Amino acid sequence: MKPEIRICPSVLSADLAKLAEQVTAVEAGGADWIHVDVMDGHFVPNLTVGADLVAALRRITDLPLDVHLMVQRPEWYIAPFAEAGASVFTFHPEATGHVQRQLQQVRACGMLAGLALNPGTPLSFAEEVIDDLDLLLVMTVNPGFPAQRYIASSSQKIARSRQLLRQYNSQAYLEVDGGISRETIGEASSAGADTFVAGSAIFSVEDPGREVQELRKRCLPAA
Ligand code: DX5
Ligand code: ZN
Repeated sequence: MKPEIRICPSVLSADLAKLAEQVTAVEAGGADWIHVDVMDGHFVPNLTVGADLVAALRRITDLPLDVHLMVQRPEWYIAPFAEAGASVFTFHPEATGHVQRQLQQVRACGMLAGLALNPGTPLSFAEEVIDDLDLLLVMTVNPGFPAQRYIASSSQKIARSRQLLRQYNSQAYLEVDGGISRETIGEASSAGADTFVAGSAIFSVEDPGREVQELRKRCLPAA
């Protein structure tokens, strides 16, 4: 089991005009990974950034870049994101026909392989490919937009995910994403999550670095 906690600011909520400054601030606050939300306007009704932003981030920080693909056909983007310097590549199973093959492809390109489950997506999708997973992302909102409310029933799903990882003796990270704040991080953490994405909670306040510390303080040590 990995004992540490990871706090992962989502730069989707940062001021892109001051990206370098904001990344430096969260890094100084002890952020562990930088989370990058990639949306294609098809898998989710919103458009964001692509591999170029990851390449730019790679030039300004040494932190691992945790890329979350909310796109159809994620397999088209594995190599470009690997070349841009992504460290973790997480996609949704509904977006591709061959989940296990793509997970292997991600690892073959030198990245950690993550699978993301929407609130309505059964955990069994992860169970089928458990040995191919370096990270399981339990979405705690329906993806597409920052600043949504944490879905309360997610805590139960996080607990079931933790159980599943234990059952298979998996060392995969258990990440949560959506509505994570000072109010919700404790609950997600006690349910068993060890890796926490937060966008608006970190970047909507004056001191994003301090907010990283505040979130960390509210986590339990991972089981
Ligand atoms: C969900 C994205 C998230 C999200 C996080 O659509 O995958 O990473 O923007 O934002 P907050 O923390 O504001 O919910
Ligand atoms: Zn995300």
